[in-house]
Amino acid sequence: MATIIDGKEVSGKIKESIKWRVEELIGQGIVPGLSVIIIGDNPASLTYVNNKKKTCEALGMRSDLRQYPASLTEKELLEVITELNNDPEIHGILVQLPLPSHIDEFKVINAISPEKDVDGFHPVSIGNMMIGNDTFLPCTPHGIMKMLQFYGIDPKGKHAVVVGRSNIVGKPIGQLLLQKDATVTYCHSKTNDLKSFTKQADILIAAIGKAKMFDESYIKPGAVVIDVGMNRDEQGKLCGDVDFDAVFETASYITPVPGGVGPMTIAMLMENTLLSAERGVPKDKPSVSM
Ligand code: GUN
Repeated sequence: MATIIDGKEVSGKIKESIKWRVEELIGQGIVPGLSVIIIGDNPASLTYVNNKKKTCEALGMRSDLRQYPASLTEKELLEVITELNNDPEIHGILVQLPLPSHIDEFKVINAISPEKDVDGFHPVSIGNMMIGNDTFLPCTPHGIMKMLQFYGIDPKGKHAVVVGRSNIVGKPIGQLLLQKDATVTYCHSKTNDLKSFTKQADILIAAIGKAKMFDESYIKPGAVVIDVGMNRDEQGKLCGDVDFDAVFETASYITPVPGGVGPMTIAMLMENTLLSAERGVPKDKPSVSM
């Protein structure tokens, strides 16, 4: 029987420490500020950004939520980003993805100042992550690494199999695991005989976006199973890429959906925003200890 990795508990502890650091920073006259931009009215995206806003406020940070109609032009969006890049009260800028098809996602991410790139999606942030430099790490992969650390799961020497190759999750989580000395295999929707790879995984990262795709037949006994999926099942209930009930007996650790990776993503976003604000503390003021 697996141990359930409780993302709510871990993220709760992280948020508690962030709250204290925010208070300290406010004492020095700096309120960490996060701008979240959403375009259109995708219900899932709206839920995500509202959660980000609520969490920001609960931790004492300033939340600047901007919702624009789907008709917003790329030029208008780039102008908003320039304004926020130059706003000293904003320490983090996040543009909720996906964007409407008439807006070039790459151009938009590139326009965000790397100093405010709390999503860790800018090519400068990604490059720094790849070579192990101090930078904003993308929130979901970073959250997964924190969860593993909290449960004492050391990736060193383990075979980590990542299923999914998105820029947001799959590619970066493989890199972070590699930096912690895992042997990493990337799989994706075009991989032949996927099962032959996942059956070898000591750590399986399921990030393919298919409801309950991974049952016990994909899992090596004793594997650590991290479910990044966020899908709806036939009954419309939230579920991951892993068939939790089927895998529970086989895995050693497993993340639930909801309550696993999701809460960690938001906590890491808050931490990146705080880090950005802490970097802005003038040199003559004592900086906040990490
Ligand atoms: N859409 C889904 N996940 C994310 C995320 O982590 N950041 C942004 N900006 N958009 C997303």
